Amino acid sequence: MKDASIVTGIFWHNAPVVVITSTLDERINGQVAVTLVTSSIVHSIPRLLVGIWKGNYTHEFIYNSKKFVVHLLKKDQFPLVRNFGFYTGREREKFKDIDYFIANTGCPVIKDVHSYTECKVLNAMDGGDMTAFLVKAEFGEILRGGDWMTLEDFYTHAPQEWIAQYSYKLEKSIQFSLPIIHNINYEAFNP
Ligand SMILES: Cc1cc2nc3c(=O)[nH]c(=O)nc-3n(C[C@H](O)[C@H](O)[C@H](O)COP(=O)(O)O)c2cc1C
Repeated sequence: MKDASIVTGIFWHNAPVVVITSTLDERINGQVAVTLVTSSIVHSIPRLLVGIWKGNYTHEFIYNSKKFVVHLLKKDQFPLVRNFGFYTGREREKFKDIDYFIANTGCPVIKDVHSYTECKVLNAMDGGDMTAFLVKAEFGEILRGGDWMTLEDFYTHAPQEWIAQYSYKLEKSIQFSLPIIHNINYEAFNP
């Protein structure tokens, strides 16, 4: 099989599953993501590169407020994945049953997670159907610790009906992406 996705799929499998929360005009929202990588060689200046799909409500928050919190999840926190990753904040108050506090940036921090880091956008690049944000990670804490969840953990151990539910939503997201994925705006981003 000579298909690039056989290689790029490896990156999906081992990626940590995170919840990204943000704030805009005193509203709060959050989503699940796996498209994150570390991107600074300087240990004391930590940075991440984070990909967010444009169809997500959270994209609007991050694009405009330029700040968010990344939470690593404990290995079995599938209900958090469902709450933040299966529904849109346009139709649901995702923080209704979540224990959280508001950080200095105004972004919500979920208390019962592996760890979190507060991030501010330094630059961004348009990717057609998504935006890649280069961020500085300003503050971070290990909360519960232990093992964190990867996408492979989600697909191996989450309830089958939840995986089917997400597959349906994912297919709709792919249909949203297909017509715009090649429409890349090459103008520089002004943070
Ligand atoms: C396991 C899983 C992985 C996901 N990975 C990403 C991702 O890497 N990037 C992204 O932008 N959305 C990703 N999503 C999709 C968003 O979390 C999802 O569309 C969410 O409902 C958006 O919520 P919002 O509209 O309130 O922002 C993922 C969802 C799940 C369940």
